Amino acid sequence: MRLLVTGGAGFIGANFVQDAVRDGASVTVLDALTYAGSRESLAPVADRIRLVEGDVCDAALVSSLTADADAVVHFAAETHVDNALADPAPFVQSNVVGTFTVLEAVRRHGVRLHHISTDEVYGDLPLDDPARFTENTPYNPSSPYSSTKAAADLLVRAWVRSYGVHATLSNCSNNYGPYQHVEKFIPRQITNVLTGRRPKLYGAGANVRDWIHVDDHNAAVRRILADGKAGQTYLIGAQCEQNNLTVMRTLLRLMGRDPDDFDHVTDRAGHDLRYAIDPSTLTDELGWKPVHTDFEDGLRNTIDWYRANESWWGPLKEQVEANYQERGQ
Ligand code: NAD
Ligand code: TYD
Repeated sequence: MRLLVTGGAGFIGANFVQDAVRDGASVTVLDALTYAGSRESLAPVADRIRLVEGDVCDAALVSSLTADADAVVHFAAETHVDNALADPAPFVQSNVVGTFTVLEAVRRHGVRLHHISTDEVYGDLPLDDPARFTENTPYNPSSPYSSTKAAADLLVRAWVRSYGVHATLSNCSNNYGPYQHVEKFIPRQITNVLTGRRPKLYGAGANVRDWIHVDDHNAAVRRILADGKAGQTYLIGAQCEQNNLTVMRTLLRLMGRDPDDFDHVTDRAGHDLRYAIDPSTLTDELGWKPVHTDFEDGLRNTIDWYRANESWWGPLKEQVEANYQERGQ
């Protein structure tokens, strides 16, 4: 299968591309190589893929690459909530206009699309409530990030209905694993410890996220690409709800530190309380199941990866922490 993978030099995309190449797919990556993308994340498969440095909003480029693909997997997006709060403009451009551009290309060339989205489009749930997100939960995004992802999803749904575009969508919960940018929660804390900084917890740390290993997310995407129903949305989650304080203390313990050796910092504006996914459609319809079900084990492996790959994240760390310091976080 010839895949065009947008955002394939980012965290989830690079893991996806590495797996897809090992499975025998022929892969072209389209990535703008923003601060969040890196050639090094694709180094293990560099000689087996085509990496095109370009913007997903460039209609002529996206159209010509799509014409040569059997399917497009659309990961490219601006992804960090804190960055969106500071400057939402690139989120509207890459996430909304970028998805529109991809949709027009797949419509023109009759190519299958899988659109990657997030559970954050559903807004948040109360703490200590058994309710979880399903495919029927109404959209209610809170942040400039989640609202632009929601807008992108709605475009995909409209292009399916109005133009018969062959697209599937997936909304996944919080990912962790190798190659995640050090701006995000788990790698930020790991690399804070590794560089002698104190980890930083927003507010009291009561906010709950539903964690999934990136390889489980990508295995689900491959199942959907193979057998997903056109027009269907699939929620991807590994049923691993944890509050941020617990994750912080677990990371510190696994790294041999005092579990209370961190700073409480200014909370995020509009901070979503809880995300939780009911993945039944995916498990019942497509038989997908997560493999990385021991969260502590997954965190231990992730810590080991960051210890072994300082050359990948080291050059990013200073700037990220300088930005956080400016925001009091
Ligand atoms: P990331 O920020 O690590 O990577 C995004 C990639 O997209 C980068 O390589 C970047 O260079 C590229 N990109 C950004 N704007 C672009 C543009 N205009 N043109 C071309 N390339 C561009 O993000 P990630 O965590 O890998 O997330 C990938 C996708 O998965 C996103 O759509 C995100 O919304 C979704 N998602 C992420 C999570 C998570 O926990 N990280 C959870 C659910 C869904
Ligand atoms: P993040 O990785 O930014 O993902 P998202 O906001 O998309 O869920 O943050 C995960 C959680 O961790 C979120 O509740 C915010 C919190 N957080 C901290 O407590 N400290 C940090 O340094 C960061 C980056 C996030």
